[in-house]
Amino acid sequence: MKTGRPLRVGVMISGRGSNLQALLEACAGADFPARIVLVVSNRADAPGLSLAQAAGVPVKVLPHRDFASRDAFDAAVSEAFESVAVELICMAGFMRLLSAGFVERWRDRLINIHPALLPAFKGLDTHRRALAAGAKEHGCTVHYVRHEMDSGPVIGQAAVPVLPGDSADTLAARVLEAEHRLYPHCLRLIAEGRVRVRGETAEIMAKGAPT
Ligand code: GAR
Repeated sequence: MKTGRPLRVGVMISGRGSNLQALLEACAGADFPARIVLVVSNRADAPGLSLAQAAGVPVKVLPHRDFASRDAFDAAVSEAFESVAVELICMAGFMRLLSAGFVERWRDRLINIHPALLPAFKGLDTHRRALAAGAKEHGCTVHYVRHEMDSGPVIGQAAVPVLPGDSADTLAARVLEAEHRLYPHCLRLIAEGRVRVRGETAEIMAKGAPT
């Protein structure tokens, strides 16, 4: 995905939007190779919407309950992004499962951040489960999305220590700081054309390597 102009990115959110904010800040950099052109939320009350608006980025609210089926909702999301020529979708705290059709339509153009070192701790409540398992390291993963939940070629991961006395909240806060560094880093790698998906593996190429 290297075109000589900034990559056109769409972001999907459901809530707070702190990862969206990290991506907005990165994309505001003059030399950053991507631009966020639309933020879609399935919730009208998502706090992240105002972060996008404050950055001058258009938003679209598509409440999933307004649609008769998951396929109808997913089709509306696709149309919203396609109408502004989005080339890559970043899911940033988007908390709904997507249909197989949507995932296929955006295959290798749809990425997600998950608050665990996949394949460990897929699903929800990852910080509490990492503590309960006695994990000594935890972290976050940015990956291409496949239909099976929280699976797909890994683009990047960041690990943090689990410290004595951690609660799920203190651990979540440490992971979230790592998320805010990892997601812009992975977006840059893709926008610079340095990520190649081969089967179920993402290969990262060195800067300046032939593509
Ligand atoms: C983040 O921790 C993200 O990794 C997680 O939701 C949070 C959203 O926070 N995503 C998932 O759990 C997806 N399965 P944010 O709205 O502040 O970015």
